[in-house]
Amino acid sequence: MGSIAIVFLVGAASIFAQTTSISKSASITPTTVPTSTQPSAGVNFPPVGSIPRDFSPAGLEKLWSVVGPIDPPPFTTTRVPDLPIPVPSSPPALYPSWFAPAPKDVLPKLKLPKGFKFGVATAAYQVEGAVKNDGKGPTMWDWNSRQPGGVLDGTNGDVVDLHYYLYKEDIARVAALGFNAHSFSISWARIFPFGTADSPVNRVALAHYSDLIDYHIKSGVEPVATLFHWDLPLALQAYYGGFTSPKIVDDFVNFAKTVFKAYNGRVKTWYTFNEPRVYCGQITTYPFVNASFAPGVNASTAPYICAWNLLRAHAGAVKAFREMKIQGEISFKNDDYVGIPWRANSTEDMAAVERHAAFRIGIFSDPAYTTGDWPKIMTDTLPPSYLPRLTAAEKKDIHGSADFFATDPYRTQWIAAPPDGIDACVKNTSHSMWPECHSVVLVDSNAGWAAGLNPDPLSDTWLQATPNFLRESLRQLQKRWPTKKMYISEFGFDEPFEELRTDMFRIVEDVTRTNYYMTYLGEILLAIHEDKIPIAGTFAWAMVDNTEWNSGISAKFGIQHVNYTTLERTYKRSAFALSEFYKAHAQK
Ligand SMILES: *[C@@H]1O[C@H](CO)[C@@H](O)[C@H](O)[C@H]1NC(C)=O
Ligand SMILES: *[C@@H]1O[C@H](CO)[C@@H](O)[C@H](O)[C@H]1NC(C)=O
Ligand SMILES: *[C@@H]1O[C@H](CO)[C@@H](O)[C@H](O)[C@H]1NC(C)=O
Ligand SMILES: *[C@@H]1O[C@H](CO)[C@@H](O)[C@H](O)[C@H]1NC(C)=O
Ligand SMILES: *[C@@H]1O[C@H](CO)[C@@H](O)[C@H](O)[C@H]1NC(C)=O
Repeated sequence: MGSIAIVFLVGAASIFAQTTSISKSASITPTTVPTSTQPSAGVNFPPVGSIPRDFSPAGLEKLWSVVGPIDPPPFTTTRVPDLPIPVPSSPPALYPSWFAPAPKDVLPKLKLPKGFKFGVATAAYQVEGAVKNDGKGPTMWDWNSRQPGGVLDGTNGDVVDLHYYLYKEDIARVAALGFNAHSFSISWARIFPFGTADSPVNRVALAHYSDLIDYHIKSGVEPVATLFHWDLPLALQAYYGGFTSPKIVDDFVNFAKTVFKAYNGRVKTWYTFNEPRVYCGQITTYPFVNASFAPGVNASTAPYICAWNLLRAHAGAVKAFREMKIQGEISFKNDDYVGIPWRANSTEDMAAVERHAAFRIGIFSDPAYTTGDWPKIMTDTLPPSYLPRLTAAEKKDIHGSADFFATDPYRTQWIAAPPDGIDACVKNTSHSMWPECHSVVLVDSNAGWAAGLNPDPLSDTWLQATPNFLRESLRQLQKRWPTKKMYISEFGFDEPFEELRTDMFRIVEDVTRTNYYMTYLGEILLAIHEDKIPIAGTFAWAMVDNTEWNSGISAKFGIQHVNYTTLERTYKRSAFALSEFYKAHAQK
């Protein structure tokens, strides 16, 4: 990919100055984006507080003018599918069974636990389209997609899958394959176009998600809802700098309460935040870093100030959830993994693994699940001007604020200490690896073999298919942040070079992704039965091809193809494999 490539994916954002890619899995470490990736002109965002809080239609247009013109969708009514959805016959085996078992024959004696959620996943910005319909306000991703180089392939989310009007077909199509759950996100800027607690709620949007939730239930597909999957209302960035301001806490809690009240009893599994570490890293990358931060916050401190505000917003929402006696369970989605020391017996690399786990997972999961506080590794490294210390009252609210553990274990990789050692890095704020003071390594320290099979080049800075490392990472998660229930809230793979294929028979033959899912699911069965990890659900990312953040529609993660001319969906091999795996391993 070219030197201007800046790629975030599904969940995470890697921000390594030495590469030009920002991946889904990235580091929260503030880094300078190479100057070659920064167009010298065209990035415009109003200074904090310069847009008045005008909650009228004219005020909404003023916010949209920061984004610019929008492509309207080809139609604006919800399409109702003809049922039943025809399911084509399953694809024939690709390999002899002695080489690769059929999905039903993967560890056939091991079953999934009763009540297992076998689901697919999406996120509002990535699939909905209709970004300016039914009174929605602009989000920072609507803005990003218009900035020079903001999205690699120049596409945007204006129409994309048009799931906003095609959700009934989408749900019917996954129901037809036997999936029983869908994890989606609710767009804050649809419910509150101006974001704030004192601004008007948009009843049309509340009614939309109400219908969407009812349709899931009617179809036998359990709705699992995320409140924030990175699509920040642009108004909140303009008014006060979004998550870099403590003002976000009350506004998020108000949004959460509105949604809890509206859908109580119908949604039973909730997430406050998707991969918060990645989100808080993303705001320091181009072009978001050119938007306004709260006064006193800079690109070096922003990820940690964001983490502090976001964690308190999470705790506030969960407190409200419990006070309102909302039915069901609530948590947030972790990204990343507990890594493996690069050099087997290196105490420095073992210490680097601990730093990685602290900065990538412990940052939210130590406060929520174990100590109630930031990891010691972080407070030993970061001064309070970067990472504000939690008060006793905050710790009390945060500790225990998650009912289960959710992880997006896309991959597990090696972790190495800085070449000049961890101590030299920790003490030196000018060190290129400060403050995390470790690096992720994609090849082994012995002969340089990769940790796992490559994905599409658009994602190869962060993703590899690493089924052989999955169980150990899950065991480490369970050891460090013990839980009675764990969800694999996302996992998936972008088929290499799928975006170059034009013939349908080539597109649907996503064998690399199919192998990824079957090997991961086999290891998940073993994790459940042999390691006693209480995994209660898996969610394949993604239900359909979608806009993969800074990679646009070029990185293909869907188990269904979407034709962006006709919006037609087509099942790929992986969709059939998942369906056959589930049917053979489910316990009624
Ligand atoms: C965007 O932010 C970067 C990093 O702070 C800066 O170097 C660049 O000049 C900014 N670009 C614009 C157009 O403001
Ligand atoms: C690591 O140490 C163990 C135990 O001392 C030893 O058996 C093993 O060979 C060592 N591994 C490497 C790669 O040096
Ligand atoms: C960012 O803010 C921190 C904390 O106030 C300060 O120590 C640091 O020097 C600032 N960085 C820049 C580049 O201004
Ligand atoms: C700190 O790191 C910078 C950048 O790598 C380096 O130039 C400098 O020598 C280091 N300072 C110390 C005291 O090691
Ligand atoms: C998408 O639809 C267009 C219009 O019908 C068609 O020409 C094209 O071949 C389709 N693409 C694929 C991959 O089938």
